[in-house]
Amino acid sequence: MTIPVKDKTGIAKMREACAIAATVLEQLKPLVRPGVTTQDLEEAGRDWIARLGARSACYGYQHGSRRYPAHTCISVNDEVVHGIPSFKRVLRDGDIVSLDIVVWHDGYVGDNAFTVPVGTISPTNEKLLRVTREALDLGIKQALVGNRIGDVSAAIQQFVEANGFSVVRDMVGHGVGVAMHEPPEIPNFGRRGTGDKIRTGMTLAIEPMVNLGAYKTKTLSDGWTIVTADGSPSAHFEHTVLTSEHGPEVLTIPRPVSA
Ligand code: MF3
Ligand code: CO
Repeated sequence: MTIPVKDKTGIAKMREACAIAATVLEQLKPLVRPGVTTQDLEEAGRDWIARLGARSACYGYQHGSRRYPAHTCISVNDEVVHGIPSFKRVLRDGDIVSLDIVVWHDGYVGDNAFTVPVGTISPTNEKLLRVTREALDLGIKQALVGNRIGDVSAAIQQFVEANGFSVVRDMVGHGVGVAMHEPPEIPNFGRRGTGDKIRTGMTLAIEPMVNLGAYKTKTLSDGWTIVTADGSPSAHFEHTVLTSEHGPEVLTIPRPVSA
């Protein structure tokens, strides 16, 4: 499959969708504290998406015969991604919580995620968040025109494993644009110099998912929630990035909002 490249108009629309996705995420971060439920975060996310004139790309998203039932994905501790918000899930001091926000705006999709500490977390979890965040930055730095997707993958994997953690294999980053998932797949593991060539005008969702323990995952019986097989905590950071002659440009940058 050829990788779509965006023209000027497509890029302008991607900028807008991505700015909205980032702004929603930014508004949710300060709401994370002990006692809050993941449903509280879902409702705030749903309302911010609407207020900013967008639609959730997650709500109703079809996978097999199932449709995702919420506007946000909220994944706590050993939940890697696609956690379904619930009024039963109360955040506690020491938890880590991943917020994944994907929006549609004017025919284009913006996708980003961030893992936030709840109150005071363990030094190990602090390191897990820092390493995953830095792995994302290292991956983005490799999203250079002329490089290959494997250069992004290898940079992420090397850094994560050098720090004693593992990268999830079952889920990957992806192109994003007029659909939430476009080619190419962007694994968080792989070898330099392999995979598709990066060209000008690609919009890529780069998203390391990093486990404290082993890389294996399983899906819960709700059909969506991915958890680590060994129960260890997992972190997830994601940006949508535009590849350009001037180097990689992160599109998921929040905008100030008026109260
Ligand atoms: N960022 C996630 C992804 O790229 C969002 C999935 S939405 C869901 O897979 F509906 F699948 F949950
Ligand atoms: Co994504």
